Amino acid sequence: MARPILRTPLCDLLGIEYPVISAGMGPVGGGAAPAATADLTAAVSNAGGLGVIGGAGFSADRLREEIRKVRSMTDKPFGVDLLLPSNYMGGAAIGEIPANPRDLIPQETLQSLKKILEDLGIEWVEAPLPTAHGRVRKPGQGMSDEQMEVVIEEKVPVFASGLGNPGPWIERLHANGTKVLSLVGNVKNAKRVADAGADIVVAQGTEAGGHTGRIATMALIPQVIDAVTPTPVVAAGGIGDGRGLAAALALGAIGAWVGTAFLVSTEANQPDIQKERILAASDEDTRITRLYSGKTMRNIVNPLIEAYEAANLQPLPMGIQGMLVADIIYSARKAGREDLLMNAAGQVAGLLQEARPAADILTDMVRGAADILGRRIPATITADPGALA
Ligand SMILES: Cc1cc2nc3c(=O)[nH]c(=O)nc-3n(C[C@H](O)[C@H](O)[C@H](O)COP(=O)(O)O)c2cc1C
Repeated sequence: MARPILRTPLCDLLGIEYPVISAGMGPVGGGAAPAATADLTAAVSNAGGLGVIGGAGFSADRLREEIRKVRSMTDKPFGVDLLLPSNYMGGAAIGEIPANPRDLIPQETLQSLKKILEDLGIEWVEAPLPTAHGRVRKPGQGMSDEQMEVVIEEKVPVFASGLGNPGPWIERLHANGTKVLSLVGNVKNAKRVADAGADIVVAQGTEAGGHTGRIATMALIPQVIDAVTPTPVVAAGGIGDGRGLAAALALGAIGAWVGTAFLVSTEANQPDIQKERILAASDEDTRITRLYSGKTMRNIVNPLIEAYEAANLQPLPMGIQGMLVADIIYSARKAGREDLLMNAAGQVAGLLQEARPAADILTDMVRGAADILGRRIPATITADPGALA
């Protein structure tokens, strides 16, 4: 079959064939590696989209290795995504780190979570510290600073910030010719990053897997476009096939940033059991919870999430919550309860039926959108914009 054709200004901006970006998905479980590593990134870039490394869980050195690995697998453009909270502790003024970092966890929260695990029949076992998931650092010594230096030194073609504002780095990134994308979930933050000089705003609706906001994609995209024009907007959240891509373009976005649909690809670095849970999920099977990171994150629902949400606990700053969750995950693993681990996924999970190569997912999505936009299907629609005034 001939390759489909679908071009938008995003293709010229990033030097890619199709206006689809695979989301830079970070770690999907306590201590796990990121989901979007070199394999997925290179597969999507080689297939004509833009692959993005989910760099958040990598140390600076590991990130450099992964960037070089992508370069050995493709000569096409690719990106790196990092989370840029004001510091890795989520902006908390925590001062000195105590000798035992667990002292940062309030007793009340700890006891409530111990009780939740006990009710689920799981023994509480402390994870070895420090853990990859809950790195404890002083404010101002965030991991993202070291990672950003690598992004700049390696002159990656595209940088995407998942949380926070890339403003402080934009001048140095632009000096290297790096294009800067910034994910936002509302109009206020869209204006903030556009004013700071982001080249593209990625507006992500609440349907999305992983960290997510409150506004749905359909409502968010046109409002963000109106707020940040002439900065172009890419749509994210709930885009799983050609219909979603066509809808995003119809709303005025110049492309799609797609997570969950690529998370079940054969190249995604995600345990099979977690891919299978996404494939088995229905539209109703995801929930937003602050359990795993302290920030609102959409996951495949499980009994631990339900109990945590019912307890209505105050989430801790990101790194401290991560330390607490490391113990929970360690305990759940020891008890053989893999079903309680973090399994970030979006509402589009119900649409996904099988694990396939990323290139097939991308090509089918593009072909489907080109069909809708080029041949104006469904054929039942009659449309005519009328004479111009
Ligand atoms: C498993 C998983 C991990 C994610 N990790 C990150 C991340 O590290 N950085 C980021 O910017 N976005 C992350 N996201 C959000 C995606 O970038 C993207 O915005 C979202 O998946 C889009 O919605 P969709 O899942 O409906 O396609 C993650 C999403 C998932 C599902």
